[in-house]
Amino acid sequence: MDDHISRLIKENQCSFYVFDIGELKRRIAYLRNSLPQYVELCYAVKANPFISKEIENDVQRFEICSPGEADICKALDIDSNKMVISGIYKTPSVIEQMVADDSFKGIFTIESLRQYELLLGLAEKYNRRLEVLPRLTNDSQFGMDESDIEMIVSQRQSRKALEVVGVQYFSGTQKTSLKKYRRELEHLTAFLDRLREEYSFIARELEYGTGFPVSYFEGDKTDEKELLAGFSEILDELPQKPRIILEIGRSIAASCGRYYTHAVDIKQNKGQSYVLTDGGMHHIVYFGQYMAMKKPFVSVVGKNSTCDDKQWTVCGSLCSMNDILVKQISLPDMEVGDVLCFENAGAYCMTEGISLLLSRDLPAVYLVRENGELYRVRKPFETKALNCPQYEKM
Ligand SMILES: Cc1ncc(COP(=O)(O)O)c(C=O)c1O
Repeated sequence: MDDHISRLIKENQCSFYVFDIGELKRRIAYLRNSLPQYVELCYAVKANPFISKEIENDVQRFEICSPGEADICKALDIDSNKMVISGIYKTPSVIEQMVADDSFKGIFTIESLRQYELLLGLAEKYNRRLEVLPRLTNDSQFGMDESDIEMIVSQRQSRKALEVVGVQYFSGTQKTSLKKYRRELEHLTAFLDRLREEYSFIARELEYGTGFPVSYFEGDKTDEKELLAGFSEILDELPQKPRIILEIGRSIAASCGRYYTHAVDIKQNKGQSYVLTDGGMHHIVYFGQYMAMKKPFVSVVGKNSTCDDKQWTVCGSLCSMNDILVKQISLPDMEVGDVLCFENAGAYCMTEGISLLLSRDLPAVYLVRENGELYRVRKPFETKALNCPQYEKM
């Protein structure tokens, strides 16, 4: 890995991402070993589409939330049997294309009665039987009330074009409270019990987004081992479990990613030492980072930290005073040309930035496979075309 990084630093004038697939696979194995054996995994593609194909054989499913994600998975030739077509807005023409294609075998979530009617109408039109997972709301705009799901379940005998296989639920990310997991899972099993008692409906599966947390910053205190052990105990204690599929993005993808950015200027303003980089918040955003108050895990490639380290504020190259990646962090003496490495950047960091401000380029992306093979999976991407007016007289 170190050889690859040295080569990439030499070859790249600008920032880049590297995803370590060996680390990714070890992470999935760790999650599997920390959870009960009967648990299956569904990877939420939004966390990082670039690694999806690499883990096709390591997870049971992929959760896909937009036409773009569906196209990416199709381009990657991911087996449609593994796809869960999710999303609060399901573009009717895109869903129709999927239903019209007999070879498409994915499951659809249902987030509203309108989606229910859409899927039912399409299944009948194309003479298909579609597997569906109604999504229970967490008191937000997502999913549906219990009464709507009960209605769908109660109609299942007369509306056979849809086969209700269970329920989907997700209530948020970076969840650390075992009490909350217990409350949610008990509530979900009580709901499934009611569906069985009142509608003779036996859910085959529960697809549950756990929102497992990632420790991004110095001082984060979550004891992951304890959390996963406690979560497993809660699952084990649930009576009459259906098939349990955990929908996870962040906790699977975060640890495999690193973001590298070059120091391009150094200055002292009013006694504060600044490192300016060729990256910035259009390239990397950590969940929970606010005004750069928290300290992600950052190092300088090829330089060791010592007790003489100074405090630096690391900024990006956008013309915005908010473009601070980290404030007052201890780093070895910095020089122009040094490369900073930001850890745990494999999930969402790359896509949640404000990519279009200033029309700067987006970083190249690389994958390193377990066998040491290095792939570039995205060239540096110019955004200027997206901000450049193209006049078309109408
Ligand atoms: C429905 C659903 N499932 C799963 C996830 C993945 O969550 P996380 O990345 O916290 O695991 C999300 C994230 O937004 C989601 O909306």
